[in-house]
Amino acid sequence: MSIGVLTSGGDAPGMNAAIRAVTKVAASRDIQVWGVRDGFDGLIDGNFHPLTRRAGKKAPLSPVPDVDYSGGLGGTVLGSARSQRFYTREGRVQAAEVVGDYSLEGLIVIGGNGSMAGAHVFTTEHGIPVVGIPASIDNDIGLTREALGVDTALNTIVDACDKISDTARSHHRAFIVEVMGRNSGYLAMAAAVATAADAVLLPEQGSSPDEIVSSVVNVLRRSFESTRDKTRVLILKAEGVTIATEALVDRVRDELGPESVFEVRASILGHLVRGGNASFRDRLLAGRFGLTAVNALLEGHSDVMTGWNLGGPGLETSDSWIKLFPIEAVLEETEALLDGSSPVTMDRVRRMEAIQGVLAI
Ligand code: F6P
Repeated sequence: MSIGVLTSGGDAPGMNAAIRAVTKVAASRDIQVWGVRDGFDGLIDGNFHPLTRRAGKKAPLSPVPDVDYSGGLGGTVLGSARSQRFYTREGRVQAAEVVGDYSLEGLIVIGGNGSMAGAHVFTTEHGIPVVGIPASIDNDIGLTREALGVDTALNTIVDACDKISDTARSHHRAFIVEVMGRNSGYLAMAAAVATAADAVLLPEQGSSPDEIVSSVVNVLRRSFESTRDKTRVLILKAEGVTIATEALVDRVRDELGPESVFEVRASILGHLVRGGNASFRDRLLAGRFGLTAVNALLEGHSDVMTGWNLGGPGLETSDSWIKLFPIEAVLEETEALLDGSSPVTMDRVRRMEAIQGVLAI
């Protein structure tokens, strides 16, 4: 039996650990694994690379050395892409022909919600068994408590904010730190608690630029009151918030006026947040997702995604942390997460609003 594995969309730490897990588990069950380069583009072009080999004709399958070495690294050794060609029916027909040429009996897709959508359309149109593994630092994929990459990204943000705080305290400065996350405020929200930030700005709050400017000005004025000994103000801003960070800082400076005794600076962490060796938890989760994904293919499941989900619906697996969810249900919940109608988003925003006053203390 042969299967393929690919990584797609924005890379995330833990993707390599998932590739490693999939390959090792598959090899242990005598399944050949082909690594597909550059996401769905590689599937269309037949850009395949063997991830397992036999030392001799009768020798057992084992992973190629690169797979073992790269398991802890950030990024993805297979390369990734947001394939425009895979959006087209012709592109997917070509990909299905390549899958046939290689006699692949299943495909494991590691990626974010766009990748899950691609996997769902592909298996629906061509009947090729597909299992998804969620990986995106944005944590905007439905039905999994966390996707691969989130924990590492949060550790990176916390480390960066600690460093920014060192210099901020030394100069009595306020910093507005922007973190990635596309339309999801999860990274900013979780990091704000861990860094004891003074405020957090999230797209899910739906505030207008004017409201954001005035809330930041209020936090700054209160924080730097002469009766208080605060030496640093840290405000975490999610990338998806409607006002650009530089514009926000300019408007805040204007509101505070030239007499202001404290300075406001901006720092955009950008792609820094997406890189770096995977944390323990991302590696652990990748191992558990990888094992469950290979088992799912062997058990005849398709059009499902592995999810870290302790309660609620989902198909139980041999791992008490991990369930399988129909990708269609994942995509529905993803939409609800982002438009704010999911109970998960409502609960996150409610919890954040409940501690806004506490953050600024
Ligand atoms: O989805 C992951 C992500 O890093 C988002 O947080 C961000 O908005 C986007 O990808 C950036 O994409 P690119 O690397 O193509 O600029």
